[in-house]
Amino acid sequence: MRRKVIAGNWKMNMLPNEAIEFVQKLEPLVKDTKNEVILCVPYTDLFYTLNMAQGTNIKIGAQNMHYESKGAFTGEVSAEMLKCIGVEYVIIGHSERRAYFAETDETVNKKLKSALKNELKPIVCVGESLEQREKGETKDIITNQTRLALEGLSPEEVEKVIIAYEPIWAIGTGKTATANDAEESIHAIREEISKIYGQDTSDRVIIQYGGSVKSSNSQELFSMPDIDGGLVGGASLDANEFAKIVNFEN
Ligand code: PGA
Repeated sequence: MRRKVIAGNWKMNMLPNEAIEFVQKLEPLVKDTKNEVILCVPYTDLFYTLNMAQGTNIKIGAQNMHYESKGAFTGEVSAEMLKCIGVEYVIIGHSERRAYFAETDETVNKKLKSALKNELKPIVCVGESLEQREKGETKDIITNQTRLALEGLSPEEVEKVIIAYEPIWAIGTGKTATANDAEESIHAIREEISKIYGQDTSDRVIIQYGGSVKSSNSQELFSMPDIDGGLVGGASLDANEFAKIVNFEN
């Protein structure tokens, strides 16, 4: 059976002192969970949160990386740099990066390959806009994004990737996809993976839901057969609320 993975995405929030306090507060609240707990923090919080999370069940991730390993890319951070300070996860292709920072399916694919080469565990985001949903294009958009993101990977590599299905219209809006809609989309992603990489790989890959996840809707969402936890933005900024989401039990 697949494990549940709950990842917080702090986005551009939390100063180091706030981050330290957060981990101190979260640790006792989630120490008994069987689920995987990840905090994806700003670069400037990585060092502090890695220190605080040492010896706990809280894993630390970054929110972006560059696909090149080094060179003249002012302001960028490579997979190797993240790996060498102890970062375990990295979000790739979040819709905010696609919308505001010119991230494309091609750069997402390159970043994914570089992350895997450096033994980082990528959380790759896919999702449709409201307009695309209204036009009935959801399934095409998300299966296409998934296929392009994973292009060139072996089935063994695909199994190391976490996919986060995040409908863009549900991010930060308070509008959550219904559990049935989220399940339908995630099932379609799983079918696409099965077609290309085989049933076994598709059965093993972790696929999360993201978009206004809160403690009041997480239980219903995470209980769906194809949904393996969540990528949580706003609600991951409050330790008590995030702990409630993390402590999901089937
Ligand atoms: P949200 O963000 O939970 O605030 O909607 C989710 C995300 O962007 O990963």
